[in-house]
Order: sequence, then structure tokens, then C-alpha cells
Amino acid sequence: MPQSCRLTPFLQRLLLVVSITGALVVSLAPARAADGSTAVHPLLWPRVHSPLPPDPALDARVQALLGRMSVEDKVGQMIQADIKYVTPDEVRQYHLGSILAGGNSKPDGDHSGTAAQWQQLADAFHRASLERSDGRPAIPVLFGIDAVHGHNNLIGSTLFPQNVGLGATRDPELVHEIGEITARELRASGINWTFAPTLTVPRDNRWGRSYEGYSENPKLVAEYAPQIVAGLEGAVGTPQFLDADHVIATAKHFVGDGGTKGGKDQGDAEVSEAVLRDVHAAGYPPAIRAGVQVVMVSFSSWNGVKMAGNKALITDVLKQRMGFDGIVLGDWNAHGQVPGCTNEDCAAAYNAGLDMLEAPDSWKGLYQHTLAEVKSGLIPMPRVDDAVTRILRVKMRLGMFKEGLPSDNPLARSAAQVIGSAAHRAVARRAVRESLVLLKNNHGLLPLDPRKRILVAGDGADNISKQNGGWTLTWQGTGLTNANFPGATSIWAGISAQVRAAGGAAVLSVDGSYKQKPDAAIVVFGEDPYAEFQGDLPNLAYKPGNDHDLDLLRRLHAQGVPVVALFITGRPLWMNREINASDAFVVAWLPSSEGEGVADVLLQKRDGSIDHDFHGKLPYSWPRTAIQTPLNVGQPDYHPQFAYGYGLRYADHVELGQLPEDPGVKLSSARAGVYLIRGKPAPGLELRLTGASGTSANVLATPAATADGSLSVDALDYKAQEDARRLRWSGNGPAQVELVAKSPLDVERQTNGDVMLVTTLRVDALSSAGTEIGVGCGSRCEARIPIGAQLAALPHGQWLRVGIPLKCFRDAGANMSKLERPFEWISSAGEDIAVTEVSLGTVADKTLSCGSGP
Ligand code: BGC
Ligand code: BGC
Repeated sequence: MPQSCRLTPFLQRLLLVVSITGALVVSLAPARAADGSTAVHPLLWPRVHSPLPPDPALDARVQALLGRMSVEDKVGQMIQADIKYVTPDEVRQYHLGSILAGGNSKPDGDHSGTAAQWQQLADAFHRASLERSDGRPAIPVLFGIDAVHGHNNLIGSTLFPQNVGLGATRDPELVHEIGEITARELRASGINWTFAPTLTVPRDNRWGRSYEGYSENPKLVAEYAPQIVAGLEGAVGTPQFLDADHVIATAKHFVGDGGTKGGKDQGDAEVSEAVLRDVHAAGYPPAIRAGVQVVMVSFSSWNGVKMAGNKALITDVLKQRMGFDGIVLGDWNAHGQVPGCTNEDCAAAYNAGLDMLEAPDSWKGLYQHTLAEVKSGLIPMPRVDDAVTRILRVKMRLGMFKEGLPSDNPLARSAAQVIGSAAHRAVARRAVRESLVLLKNNHGLLPLDPRKRILVAGDGADNISKQNGGWTLTWQGTGLTNANFPGATSIWAGISAQVRAAGGAAVLSVDGSYKQKPDAAIVVFGEDPYAEFQGDLPNLAYKPGNDHDLDLLRRLHAQGVPVVALFITGRPLWMNREINASDAFVVAWLPSSEGEGVADVLLQKRDGSIDHDFHGKLPYSWPRTAIQTPLNVGQPDYHPQFAYGYGLRYADHVELGQLPEDPGVKLSSARAGVYLIRGKPAPGLELRLTGASGTSANVLATPAATADGSLSVDALDYKAQEDARRLRWSGNGPAQVELVAKSPLDVERQTNGDVMLVTTLRVDALSSAGTEIGVGCGSRCEARIPIGAQLAALPHGQWLRVGIPLKCFRDAGANMSKLERPFEWISSAGEDIAVTEVSLGTVADKTLSCGSGP
């Protein structure tokens, strides 16, 4: 509840209801602190039964198939490879059970791949899995993808608000409809399996995956779970269940992903067994009752034990107590984090009860090790048979043995009419309308009269990529422009169309400048896209050290323009200063492709009536300071700025007073994963030169040079004065420039994903003796990669972002959890380069390969 506001009786009642809900949550989740125990008591977990009646005929077919399979066939079924790292021919050869397309894996490596290209790809893998001439059974391959807010990997698809926005709608039927549409668009592109829904219950919004969760409230997650599952898979017990219009759903990530300490991605949930069950597992029983066919195991740990190795929770609780009879899938190389395991070798995960491991790039090694472990008995045959039985059962339930090619599906044959259709987009637009949450509306500024002059400002106004957030065409959702979203509508485009139709004037001005004073301004700003650990934050400050958006709001306000702030975000962040600087404040979450839903609510009709009122309620509690974490309804010391469930409607005449502006923490602009910025080392790092003679010195000022003169550094202008460094090599033998961290950096998680070390540089001349890029992890721990030949093929004299996958350094022997030198550049006489930035990222103009070839 805001600190200083007058409440209408209606609102007082509303908040009472909210606090009762909170009390319920408390009684579910004992306040008892976690005792760190890892003991599991399956009898204390909910007893669930599969909703599918026993099917002896299907079981008999599964057993018959199993009996004809070789050990090799069985192991193949238990492994999932990524399309970037596996060919159809390898699927045929190794009899792999499934493939996935990770966030950055597309047909022909291009994120603008069409439905026809996806179909072709799916067909090629499907055909390969069925090619068999040795008398053993041919088993069709499953194809999974992250369709987490619509079919978000496919260009031109309908993109729904990310789950955080759906949580705000409090509309389970809408969630059901979204599931139906997502399934149809997937089928239209030849894909039969999604890694959704995310049933996480995020309890600390510093977590970069908060937006993938519907709510901090387990009750809401449990209410949505069966709806989204039934939408994706069809209703269990009806002929629609897993028919040609539906796909397999995946409940993820089991369990505790949203409960990690500090909101750290892939971290440790230090909670009691009761909290794990009542808060974090709340969505699973209803999802199982709705017939969900796959459960994905979390990357995270529970009280120090990696979930991918937790037999008690996977086998005793999920499979036995909760009667889950589908596939238990591991997450992206997550098994490699189980003690004693690597990405290529992990009997412990299979023995804990995982049936299929996601081994995107590591599948071949995993296949070989697993085969040997099954043969030696380390992984017992009954365990293998249980896994393969489950996999075959799901494939049969989906009708895969009877279906033709993916492109034969009726929806695939009419893909152009299905994908991004007007009817689908209308549902997404409705979802946008319902998801908006109104936090402030002083003097009843909203709704705006569309016949007036409206200024639309901020870098989010005409920015469809920002509306979408992560998991959109690319893993991180970065590197995209409006041109990548045919058929989509930006927030600006929606406002402008409606204002124009009403006879008013809408003006787009990103920086907020204007010639004629507007009657009101809508400022659209917010978080830039991110996914997973790349979105983890140290606190809930919004873009600390960069007050660009706040200044824009304040400037317009000071000019006497009534200001509506529209905040695009994946989570609540500390906003008190921005809220104070605006007359009305709306949270849009990540609304995705149908930006016009915003205009539907913010603008009144021409005749002054209201078409669509605000509907959304906060799915997460809103913080009073940047350090108010974790902040959850039901906590004993619960004093949020806006309570869980808050959200004004037009009839609520609430005047919000000045909010306190103390963030509770020093706002530091240091961003994680940035090592050199505007030519200078980021906080905690030093720039060091080591000459050919071996002596090193830190660069305290420029110009500087090594004592032997073999390497020199000067300041240079890139976009601003002296915001880059020029490095020149002369003399005999190699010399190096490096960034040295004061305390070692852990980039293990980033290395497991698609993250690169990205250097923004200009090559003016290369040394003929060769160039290497490297990292250092101790005096004898180092990895260097020759890149001279690859650099030679790039244009000289031009600024470029050059990326090299972090994996390259790991594969070359670096310990990525203890980087002491996250960047080294080694060269010899003749080299002349300029560098302005070194950081971790997923977007580059040129991605180098680990090998030395061009
Ligand atoms: C994520 C999962 C996702 C998988 C496949 C993992 O990193 O944690 O949610 O389904 O990748 O892309
Ligand atoms: C993939 C994602 C995956 C992530 C895991 C990325 O390379 O594209 O799908 O979730 O790695 O960290």
C-alpha cells in the first residue's frame, strides 16, 4: 500500500481482501527458517494420480517396442541434442530420442527463419529418425522449443505478454486460450513440444527470470497451471488431448527455481521442505492432474543439493508420490553441475530419476559415457527401461507413430493463415489490455482525450524488441529492430493510430522535445531485454547511474506538461522517484507484439466514454526501496510500497502523495559482465601491460608504455573524447595487454550458455607473428586462442564488436569459475589496434570460432 494516499472505501475493502490472501499464504508456508535439512518426506507431499486411465493396449505396445530395442537404441532415446550441434544424419545414426532448438538455434542459423524453413528442418529430423533397415524399431524424434510467450522463436508469430503480465490479468481462461493459440502456431511450423509453462514462484525479484513466473503467490500459479497445460495439450479425457492441434507441455523448473538465495539464477534455495512443497511446488500437482507430459528439472539446488541429482525429490516425490508418469527432462547441460559429473558424463542424474538429459552440444560424449555406464551396470537396466518406457509412452500418446511428417499436419499446411492471424493477435491485444496495472492517476489524468495533442516520448515508445523482452527471436531478445516483427504493433503505433482516428494529434519524440506544447505526454521507458542469469541484479534499482528516463519525466513535468509514465519491465523495481515525477504511472510489464492494447486502455473514446478500464493487479509486491528483498505477501515485516494485488481502476479517485526517495543503497553504475568501458577498466579491474621482456605495470594514466617499449597505450576518441585506447606493439617478441580482476570472477554459468567475450575494437594493423586472445585463471591456469587469421579477414580501420564464445576458453583449459584475467590480448611488433569496450554479451558483428582457421 502506498505510504501516503487516501483510500476510497472500495479500495480499503480491496486491500483487506489482499491481506486475507496474504494470511492464507502464511498459513501454508510456515515462517520457520530453513534448517538446511535435505531430508525429504514423500508422505508429507500431496498425493496425485495421473488423470489418464490405465491403457493396457498402449502399455503392451510400449513393452513390445522396448523388447526389440538394443541398449544403444535405449540410450539414444534418453538424450536430447540441439539443432545447432546435431545433424539429421546423426539423429539417424545414434537413434536420438529428441532434439531441441535453444534460444539461439534456428534453421540455417538465421532468426528470421520462416514457418516453411522450420517445417523443412522438422521434416528432415523426423525422416532421419524413421530411416532404419536393421530390423530394429524406428522411433520418431520429438522436437522441443521454448515457446514461452507464444511461439516466440518464429518470425511473424503472435507474441503474448510474458508471464508476469499474464499474472497481472488474474484471468485463467485467457491463459487457457493463449495455450491453445501457442500450440496451433507451433504445429503450424512443424513443432510438437514446448518447454512451457514455467511454474516457478519467484520470491526475489533480483532474479533475472522473474518475468517468466506468473506470480509470487503460489495460489495464482496453481490456478493457472492446469489452464495453460490444458490449452497447450488439449483437455485430458477429450479427443482433443494431444491431437494434431496440440503439443506436449513441460512444467518447469522442478523445483525451487524461484526460491534461490538472493534471487541468483541457478543458485541455492535455502528453504524448508514445507516451503519447497507449499510455495515452490504449488503448480505441479494441478499440472499433473491436467495431464502435463514432461517436467523439466531445475538448474538450481535445494539446501546445497543440485536438483539434477536429487533422487528423493525426483523419484520418490515427483514420480512416486505425485504419480507423474511422463518424461522427466534435465535442463541445458544442468547435469554437468552435479558433483562428480561433466556435461558429457553423468550417471548420477539418470540414477536420480531423470529420463532424458538436455545435452545440446555435449550429446555425443554423453551418449558414449552413458552407453558404457549402462553396459557396466552403473546405470541399472530397470532404470533405463523406466526412462525409455516413459519416453515411448509420451510419443504414443501424442500419436507420433501414426502421424506423418510434421509438414503434413493440417495446421502446417495452412501455416500462412494460422501464424500471427488476426484472431490470434486479437487475443494477445486483449491480454495486453488486461495486464496493465495503474499505480497512480492523480487528478484523474487518465484516460486521455484522443482529440488532444499527445506527445509520445521515451526509448520504449516505438521499440517492439523492448516490449517483448528476452526469449524473443534470440535467447536474450537483443540485437533486434522493429523490422524483425512483421505484423506487430509498437505502443507508439497504437496510440498514433487511435489519436489520428479521433482527430487529435500524436507526436513521436523519443527525447521529449517539442515545437508546440502538448496537452499531455506519455513517456515509455524501461528495462532492456535479458534472459536467465544475464538479468540477475544486485538490488532492485532501475538502471543505477543512468537517470536518463527520470530526467525526461522531470523535464516534461517542470515544463507543465501532464505526464503519464508507462513502465516496460519484467519485474517490480524501485520507482519512487519516477512515480513522483509523473502524474499517472502505468506498469506495462513486457506486453510483446500487440502494443495497441495500451492505447485501448489509456485513451478514452471520442465521445469521452471509457472503452476499456484498467483490469490488472500486481502479481508481485512492489518495493519501497531498492534493497527491499525478498519482498513477499505474507511476510511478517511486509511493508511494500504497493501491496500484492494493488491496481487502480478509473473509478478509484486516489491522490498519491510524494513517496520517499531514499533508495536505501548507494546507486552504483557498475554493471556485471563489463570489464572495460569507454576505454577504462570497470570498477574492480585494472589494465596492465606486460612487455616482451616480461615486466608488467598497471596503466594508471595514458599515454603509457612498457619499460622495454614493446607495447604502448594512448587515449583515442571513439564516440566521445578519449573513450578508447590505442595499443601499439613494437620490439622483439610477444607482449600483452590484460584486464586484471581484484577478486576472481565466476563466469561458469555464462560459459554454459551462449555468452561471448565481446570486444569493441578497430584493427588498424596486425602483427605477422599472430595474435591471441586469452583469459587467465591463476599463474598456471590460462587459455589462449589464436585469432590472427580470423581478424585478418575482417575489415580494417572500422569499429566492430568481435565476439568469441566463452566456451572456447573453457575448452582450451581455463577454469571459468575463477577468472583472474578476463581479457588478455597477446601480439607482437606491427600490431596496432584500438579498443573501447570489453564485456560479456550475446550480440556481435563477428563471432570468432575457437579454432585458428578463418
Ligand atoms: C533454460 C530452460 C530452457 C532450456 C532450453 C535452459 O537454459 O533454463 O528454461 O527450456 O534452456 O532452451
Ligand atoms: C541457449 C538457451 C539456453 C541457454 C542456457 C543458450 O545458449 O540458446 O536456449 O537456455 O544457453 O544457458
